[in-house]
Amino acid sequence: MKNNYRQELEELKQKNLYRRLRVLEGNEGTRAVFEGRKILLFCGNDYLGLSRHPRVMVAAHQAIDRYGVGARSARLIAGTTEAHASLEKKIAEFKNKEAALVFGSGFLANLGILTAFADKDDVVVMDKLCHASLIDGARLSGAELRVFPHKNYEKCEEILKKCTAPRKLLVTENVFGMDGDRADLPALIRLKKKYGALLIVDDAHGTGIFKKTSPGSTAHFSKGIDVIMGTLSKAIGGLGGFVAADQELIDHLVNFARPFIFATALPPVLCKAAREAFCVIEEEPGLLKKLWTNIREVHQGLTKLGFSLAKPESAILPVILGDEGKAMAAFEKLLAHGLFIPAVRYPTVPKGKARLRITVSAAHTAQDIQTLLKAFKALA
Ligand SMILES: Cc1ncc(COP(=O)(O)O)c(C=O)c1O
Repeated sequence: MKNNYRQELEELKQKNLYRRLRVLEGNEGTRAVFEGRKILLFCGNDYLGLSRHPRVMVAAHQAIDRYGVGARSARLIAGTTEAHASLEKKIAEFKNKEAALVFGSGFLANLGILTAFADKDDVVVMDKLCHASLIDGARLSGAELRVFPHKNYEKCEEILKKCTAPRKLLVTENVFGMDGDRADLPALIRLKKKYGALLIVDDAHGTGIFKKTSPGSTAHFSKGIDVIMGTLSKAIGGLGGFVAADQELIDHLVNFARPFIFATALPPVLCKAAREAFCVIEEEPGLLKKLWTNIREVHQGLTKLGFSLAKPESAILPVILGDEGKAMAAFEKLLAHGLFIPAVRYPTVPKGKARLRITVSAAHTAQDIQTLLKAFKALA
């Protein structure tokens, strides 16, 4: 078969948009070895270092002994275990919601939510910077997709005002994954009430990094948010997606969300690890304190070096460089200093908005932060 795949790849290379996989050896959370060199990672989403927390690892080992490694079946066939039920109970409590449901990944959860709650007669109103999984879910649902400029709630209201569709889904991220800024949840709750929309908040990057009572936390606003989506793959340190909502909405997902119905369950080992991770977050508040101390130190240090960064609202601190080639060159230069921060480029971010997406973890030491700042000094 003749195809033009090679040409498409060549075009990407010319535009500095080509991606390749880089193998990291001996990955120990914030450290790894790349092409024989020791490197420090400031690019993962393991914001609390829970992927390697001793309690989480013990819980996972014990679960493997009890359940093995796989889930063997879809949840509705023979895939639901006590590990799933107890994790879902924990998530519902953590998010101040009646019930919860876990999916194989956050991506699948978003596909499930959008396709279960919307169909071709409905309208999905979405922030422009929402994640690919939300966009794809909306497209797959067949609903009309209307996008408002990032955090421009006046434009959002204009769209909602004109909507005559039977069901309106209002969709946002809480912490935006590539910019690290936060949605104005009270503003969105006001709009959803005024226009009778279903408010869906993707809290992939916010889950676990705020105190429950903080205005950054979806749990704090749980009464106003209909559907809180999240992932177990970032601050929770493992893998899997979740939805927390009223029981009726969760029952709806069990019956209509195809990525839930037609996919093998999340393995029990990941459920047990995630449940323990939520317990660690609740019982070891020092981790959260350490994360925010690190965030402030990285932000202040980079600002002093002359980088222009927005006020930190999460563990994601992007240094926007614009040009894709410039971002790739900066990645290589940092790598020469032992720092691994891949350049994030189109289509993950808009064209011409390439960036170094620095992510901070509670697992970074004061020395790690000094190494980061030294490398950025050389870049400046
Ligand atoms: C905002 C957002 N939603 C959803 C996802 C998908 O989550 P997962 O990695 O668990 O599939 C991601 C992951 O990158 C994300 O950033």
